[in-house]
Amino acid sequence: MQTLTLTRPDDLHLHVRDGAAMGSVVNHTASQFARAIIMPNLKPPVVTTDDAIAYRERILSAVDEKYQFEPLMTLYLTDNTSISEVKKAADSECVKAIKYYPAGATTNSDQAVTDIKKTYDTLEAMMKQGLLLLVHGEVTDNNVDVFERETVFIDKVLTPLVNEFSELKIVFEHITTKSAVDFVMQAGNNIAATITPQHILLNRNDLFKGGLQPHHYCLPVLKAEENRQAVLAAAISGNPKFFLGTDSAPHSKTAKETSCGCAGIYSAHIAIELYAEAFEAAGALEKLEAFASHYGADFYGLPRNTDKLTLVKQEQTIPEKFSFGDDELVPFRANGTCAWQLKK
Ligand code: NCD
Ligand code: ZN
Repeated sequence: MQTLTLTRPDDLHLHVRDGAAMGSVVNHTASQFARAIIMPNLKPPVVTTDDAIAYRERILSAVDEKYQFEPLMTLYLTDNTSISEVKKAADSECVKAIKYYPAGATTNSDQAVTDIKKTYDTLEAMMKQGLLLLVHGEVTDNNVDVFERETVFIDKVLTPLVNEFSELKIVFEHITTKSAVDFVMQAGNNIAATITPQHILLNRNDLFKGGLQPHHYCLPVLKAEENRQAVLAAAISGNPKFFLGTDSAPHSKTAKETSCGCAGIYSAHIAIELYAEAFEAAGALEKLEAFASHYGADFYGLPRNTDKLTLVKQEQTIPEKFSFGDDELVPFRANGTCAWQLKK
């Protein structure tokens, strides 16, 4: 049977929520990843270092003691994030980055940044303190077509930002387009990007295959096939600017299967297996380890993990649902299969 042994990977973009819901999902991640960058878009959001420290403790208490898992924390950038908070975060050891959501761009982003220029003093302080800026790269203008919002963001927001702060380390999160790939490739070494499993496995036809598919709806929304191919090519390129970030984003079945469904795909239960499938289909399995386990840690200035994880090429069946606090969660590939599984 074919096996693949990797340095244990890190997930550089993850939502675990809070409370009982968190308890239902975090061990999927802890069973395969050594560390994860935890997104701060809780209700209310994680805006201070003290919030992040408390949230980290709650995550650690929810992790099964058989796993050695380290949550790496982020703060949620607002128009008012102060320079003293940036210093506190940088001194904390546990906060690694600050997340910039354009206000209204996605789940729980209504208290986020209304105009990035309002945060320029904060960004200056982050650059000096060596904190990373993580970017949800979509404009929120309703006059811009939803499939073009990432590309327009590059021109309107990201390019001026990168020009202004040439030394700030920026991760362009969950990229979905050829224009984002091209932008990252031509930018300086302080610019990198995360890539999700869904954006290399699916295209926008998968939103409508046989009827509306709410469990394939996430933000940024799935794009056309040529964009999927460009993002996949970046993932398997061996370019260290592109690394793994699942953006696994659990929402209850009730919140997804409704007349106004939430954005987010839950992939943590088979995250590394999905990337293995995509890399294998592209004939690039040998590129998976660096993408999943080296480049992200290197960009964040973290030591690489030393222990290993082994995958086996053996089909697994995905459950129809998981429990999710007092509700249920429909996972990616529910009732379907995945070609790989973790070695038991
Ligand atoms: C994320 C969520 O639900 O928190 N949703 C998503 O579709 N990716 C937010 C985000 O990362 O945009
Ligand atoms: Zn996300």
